[in-house]
Amino acid sequence: MTALRIGFVGAGNMAQALAKGFISAGITQAGRIVASSPEVDQHLLQQMSEMGCDTTYNNKEAAYDSDVTIVCVKPAVVSRVLHDLKSCVTPSRPLVTSVALGVTLASLEGALPPLARVVRVMPNTPALVMMGASVFARGAHATDQDAQLTHRLLSSVGVCDEVPETCLDAVTGLSGAGPAYMYVVMEALADGGVKMGLPRHLALKLAAHTMMGSAKMVLTTGKHPGQLKDDVCSPGGCSIQGVHALERGRLRCALMNAVHDATLTSRETDAAK
Ligand SMILES: NC(=O)c1ccc[n+]([C@@H]2O[C@H](COP(=O)([O-])OP(=O)(O)OC[C@H]3O[C@@H](n4cnc5c(N)ncnc54)[C@H](OP(=O)(O)O)[C@@H]3O)[C@@H](O)[C@H]2O)c1
Repeated sequence: MTALRIGFVGAGNMAQALAKGFISAGITQAGRIVASSPEVDQHLLQQMSEMGCDTTYNNKEAAYDSDVTIVCVKPAVVSRVLHDLKSCVTPSRPLVTSVALGVTLASLEGALPPLARVVRVMPNTPALVMMGASVFARGAHATDQDAQLTHRLLSSVGVCDEVPETCLDAVTGLSGAGPAYMYVVMEALADGGVKMGLPRHLALKLAAHTMMGSAKMVLTTGKHPGQLKDDVCSPGGCSIQGVHALERGRLRCALMNAVHDATLTSRETDAAK
């Protein structure tokens, strides 16, 4: 079977994370990937080129002849990019996939020729290390095969679910932006360790593995995180003291607010309209 031909429009964080993931997972070969970005930003294309991908300054060349064209630009640039791609998109190919925060299927479809097959995806950057958490919603003309292909692509770099488009903004607020929250939490845990006398590298290693291990406990045991927390908090012990300090600091409220505020920002962002 011929490997998929994938075009990335935009060559930044998300394009590079997905491209590296697809290549590592054997979804396609680097030589079957082409990435486009404006001439002004050659270092991003250079990084794609170092992965073995073809590069171009012309967005049309990323879409032309591709099976899937993945739009990986900031939301404000999406309408300009879709204008560039319009003449290359037909109902038969490529499948146009957008990862842009907040840009709706209606906006994407409205900017492309009638019957264009469109999928809206919300991935996250841990796709780079095959630990991504992605969801997607299909447009009016995307087929079951398109959904299967999207699922296959995103599953190669982590977990993936198809959802109704109404979930996309909340997913953006939770897992799309979530790595940033986790980095803040991890850094703060490490700072606590350093404050109490641990060397920085050890504190950070312990914090990162504690987060990863705890996530794995939730996923593999199927137990509610509250139950797992109870399991490790002995009466009058250290852990419940620490949990009390988190409650005093309103950590739960801060994290819920983060998801709430990021979701609202995603809802308000439909620059393609
Ligand atoms: N990063 C994340 O964690 C994350 C998570 C989920 C979804 N997303 C979504 O992914 C999309 C890309 O985010 P990112 O973090 O990858 O951004 P980024 O690192 O800034 O990359 C954007 C890329 O688009 C290029 N670009 C700008 N104008 C263009 C044009 N007219 N034609 C073609 N390429 C153009 C940029 O080049 P220049 O640098 O020269 O402008 C850059 O290569 C966003 O819509 C974001 O909402 C990101």
